[in-house]
Amino acid sequence: MKDQVMDGIRHVKVGTYEYSRFEKIHNVVFEKSSKASYLVAKEIADIIRDKASKGEKCVLGLATGSSPIRVYEELIKMHKEEGLSFKNVITFNLDEYYPMNPESIHSYHYFMNEHLFNHIDIPKEQIHIPDGTIPQEEIHAYCKAYEEKIEQAGGLDFQLLGIGRTGHIGFNEPGSHFNSITRSITLDQLTREDAAGSFLGIENVPKKAITMGVGTVKSAKRIVLLAWGHKKAEIVKKTIEGEEDAHIPATYLQDHPNTTFVLDTEAASMLTRFESPWLVDAVEWRNPMIKRAVVWLCDKLEKSILRLTDKDYNENGLASLLAEKGSSYELNIEMFNQLQHTITGWPGGKPNADDTNRPERKSPERKRVIIFSPHPDDDVISMGGTFDRLVAQGHEVHIAYQTSGNIAVSNADALKFAEVAMDFLPEGKELEKIQKAIQSINKKKENEIDPVEVRELKGLIRKRESIAATRYFNVPDDQVHFLNLPFYETGAVKKNPLGQKDIEIVKDLIAKVRPHQVYAAGDLADPHGTHKVCLDAVFKSMRELKSEPFMKDCWLWLYRGAWHEWEIHEIDMAVPMSPDQVLRKRKAIFFHQTQKDGVLFQGEDLREFWVRAEDRNKKTAAHYRKLGLADYAAIEAFKRFDY
Ligand code: F6R
Repeated sequence: MKDQVMDGIRHVKVGTYEYSRFEKIHNVVFEKSSKASYLVAKEIADIIRDKASKGEKCVLGLATGSSPIRVYEELIKMHKEEGLSFKNVITFNLDEYYPMNPESIHSYHYFMNEHLFNHIDIPKEQIHIPDGTIPQEEIHAYCKAYEEKIEQAGGLDFQLLGIGRTGHIGFNEPGSHFNSITRSITLDQLTREDAAGSFLGIENVPKKAITMGVGTVKSAKRIVLLAWGHKKAEIVKKTIEGEEDAHIPATYLQDHPNTTFVLDTEAASMLTRFESPWLVDAVEWRNPMIKRAVVWLCDKLEKSILRLTDKDYNENGLASLLAEKGSSYELNIEMFNQLQHTITGWPGGKPNADDTNRPERKSPERKRVIIFSPHPDDDVISMGGTFDRLVAQGHEVHIAYQTSGNIAVSNADALKFAEVAMDFLPEGKELEKIQKAIQSINKKKENEIDPVEVRELKGLIRKRESIAATRYFNVPDDQVHFLNLPFYETGAVKKNPLGQKDIEIVKDLIAKVRPHQVYAAGDLADPHGTHKVCLDAVFKSMRELKSEPFMKDCWLWLYRGAWHEWEIHEIDMAVPMSPDQVLRKRKAIFFHQTQKDGVLFQGEDLREFWVRAEDRNKKTAAHYRKLGLADYAAIEAFKRFDY
């Protein structure tokens, strides 16, 4: 998709907004969150400069969380490279956890200093962040004073927002009043689950917070809300297209006269104009749009493809498609065949078969394959069935674990393994190292970053779990590669940016194996997650190697990470699994014992990984079945990517 706005996010005049009759909030959508962030930073910088030229102060309302990080990076860059000064800037942050020590690495004080304030020339006394240390009985007066300070400063010129999956803005959780002011609130369970990752467990996430109110936010002259990634898509749709609703506080922004939502394609993907664009405007009928419309119609009417009638198309906004194709009969058969051709039990290609309509080539018969797995377990969770088939069908399968995954091992598990090693080993040098690791774990305070030896131990545990799983699938050990990409090795949730060193490591492996197939986790849009960085490493490496002769035979297949599956119209290869193969996949996932039960990075989904994987694969199979295709126990899905 081309970005709708090339020169700035104010492009479309608020009030005359006309993208879709379904939408109630002005929004702009970008292919990449990086470009969007730059334009938001530029708008902020323009206001700061404009105010400075008039000798006025600029009052900014700021947010924390993953969404604004890149905007802050751009502002810092403008300060360093263009001399943008923040001397005339007064800031008010939206919120802070309560109770919370400002020194804690989890505090929003720490976040703002790290991501912005330590790198610019803003006078310290012009920074305001709610104080998470004030006594309970003083909170009310404190919040009132916070409001007064905003007013005294002249009111908010610009408010930057993210949006929570509950629809919160600031920490105004569902039920907040449209007129609410700064106050203390109780965090929603979903919000706490989303924060659990960075707090290393939900039990460490505070239950309360102090937040500016909805009324405070709406008093800003200009509001920009950022949302990136698929997991925001549902709440973005409800907020922009739904009715104003106290259960989704962000909908209160619908009647703010100068608000823009800045989205990436994934966050915008459920808006009607993207999900079913034919309901909004004339569309050019080509694939995958046709496939998408037909699947959408089947889902809506709960019918299989071959049962759709002319009337169904005409009455559901698809008359133009029907007109172009002539009759539902022809169209249905064409779409049925296209979906049928995505299904194959031969993910590496079927030897000696006609491959005209198959997703993969028949030759060479024995392919060299690399499966890139961001963490040591995504391979089996996301494509265990296909992995198993590739090996069984005689291909040379290499597995490349891109990161060590060490931060996801609990201290209790690490201690268990170290103590077993300690009990087993004769006295010697190694013993000292293990002893040191045991001491470090015992000494470590809750949430403290692991010292190097503990990280190494945790990484090794995941390595051995992975090897147990790859052996179960009969992969020789020398085809299992642990890349330990350096960008990951910070010991914390926040990772370093991808560097050339990471890319060289990935390139070396590809050049050594010279694969015919590469599989990678295709989480295209999650802007900060490890999966996206790992995918970028694969993309960059493959592009840098593109001129090598072996690369012209190398196809890239993307699987989706643990979180969600490709849409049916996006799937180029669907690999079915029998009930027995589902069990083999489950067993392979079980070898990753430290990621079972009390897993540290549960994310928003409380099911265990193997349950998630099975549910997802069953769901894809059920969807194919509902569309009128064969009835399988489970299906893994892949999209071919032209790199
Ligand atoms: C942050 C805040 C929250 C976040 C929201 C989205 O100060 O008040 O409303 O903006 O939870 O968080 P991310 O951006 O991490 O998805």
